Amino acid sequence: MSKINVTEKMLSALREDISSRMSERRLLHTLGVEEMAARIGEIYCPEKVNMLRAAALLHDITKELTPPEQKEIVERHDLEMSRDMQEAPSTQHAFTASLVIPELYPDFADEEIIDAVKYHTTGRADMTLSEKIIYLSDYIDCTRTYPDCVELRDVFWGRDVKNMTESERLAHLDTVMLRSFDLTIADLKARNKNISRETAEARESLSKK
Ligand SMILES: [Fe+2]
Repeated sequence: MSKINVTEKMLSALREDISSRMSERRLLHTLGVEEMAARIGEIYCPEKVNMLRAAALLHDITKELTPPEQKEIVERHDLEMSRDMQEAPSTQHAFTASLVIPELYPDFADEEIIDAVKYHTTGRADMTLSEKIIYLSDYIDCTRTYPDCVELRDVFWGRDVKNMTESERLAHLDTVMLRSFDLTIADLKARNKNISRETAEARESLSKK
């Protein structure tokens, strides 16, 4: 559970600050994720919308750092990258972003925000609702045109999510999440890439439901 109250004022300041730290392309994606997370959050958990917006704004803050810069952040915290992370450099930014949030944005150093950022790329077993929403919003944000992303966006919004019962709605989210992990795993396999343990476990925990 989130322990901080994210206000509109805090969000405006954060939006302003992150925009000077990333390329225009990354910023457009980030704002797209913010919008998607708010849209999904409005239906699933209106009380969490501002927290989700904050997590979305923060999710890619280290995405454009170089591998040595990613490594430096981890070492500065006396931590190590897992073997999976070393093999898949594109997943490192989620971990490093979770580490720099308390340093750069102490007002947002909240467990729920940090975990949503930390697991937005690989997922993990038994994801929380906010972790799922940030993961999915990153995947289906409207600036994405990759066919898998378009397919998943259509699958998610192709149903009348708003008018479902709560249990139908949660089941729908899990179905879409499972589909996203299937697409990701198929894509990694096609490109001969390593599938991280967290991604395999995320898929496994959803398929059991
Ligand atoms: Fe992203």
